[in-house]
Amino acid sequence: MSIPTQQEISAEIAEIAEAAGRAARPGDDARTRIDYPPYRSSILRHPTKDPRHADPETIERWAPCFGQRDVHPLEADLTIGAHAGTNSAVSGEPIGERITVTGRIVDGDGRPVAGQLVEIWQANAAGRYIHKNEQHPAPLDPNFTGVGRCLTGPDGEYHFRTIKPGPYPWGNHRNAWRPAHIHFSIFGRAFTQRLVTQMYFPGDPLFALDPIYQAITDQKARDALVATYDHDLTVPDHSMGYRWDVVLTGGGRTWTEPEEADE
Ligand SMILES: [Fe+2]
Repeated sequence: MSIPTQQEISAEIAEIAEAAGRAARPGDDARTRIDYPPYRSSILRHPTKDPRHADPETIERWAPCFGQRDVHPLEADLTIGAHAGTNSAVSGEPIGERITVTGRIVDGDGRPVAGQLVEIWQANAAGRYIHKNEQHPAPLDPNFTGVGRCLTGPDGEYHFRTIKPGPYPWGNHRNAWRPAHIHFSIFGRAFTQRLVTQMYFPGDPLFALDPIYQAITDQKARDALVATYDHDLTVPDHSMGYRWDVVLTGGGRTWTEPEEADE
């Protein structure tokens, strides 16, 4: 089978959107498509059976756990090179546009969720991850691991300093590029509650072309994944500021990924 072009993928995206628009009725559930043909690998790996219900207590006996003392405050700063508490033997500042990303984790009623473990991972400024399966021949940055974590404060707020990630190519089709994004994991109180999603940057020209972003059908849900540029968070002579809140429950819940999505 030949590798599809971006034009062919974009035509599929448009065709599905048009068909959905024709079929949509008021009150329809605008649920994200987990089998979305333009996102090629979703066809084979989307769940086809009901979730298997497991006893959460049994899982918690075996699953990883953490204590608040395990998280060092410097782990929220991805720009410092060497992370406290890790083995990365790097030093010096990473290359790229310094940014701060901050926001709140709240429940469906807007109540803060304090003490949450928030983990992020991302490509470097050149769009390259440190991963053994990474094929993109962009440069690695010896001063950037692309991983960080923190605990939310009393108001549910989290705060990271990092480098703006670059877009990167992936194997979905010819000339397929992911919009720049930061992966977020919200751990919950146990491993079984963990939620994973992606934060995007405003105005990205790749949104219309990206089958992962397009698999989310509800425009409000898409918009909720895009951070807001906030000049008050921009640090003079230092970094750009972005704000992004996560809603864990209720009708305005932030979209999260099915398991095993990894792009
Ligand atoms: Fe990614």
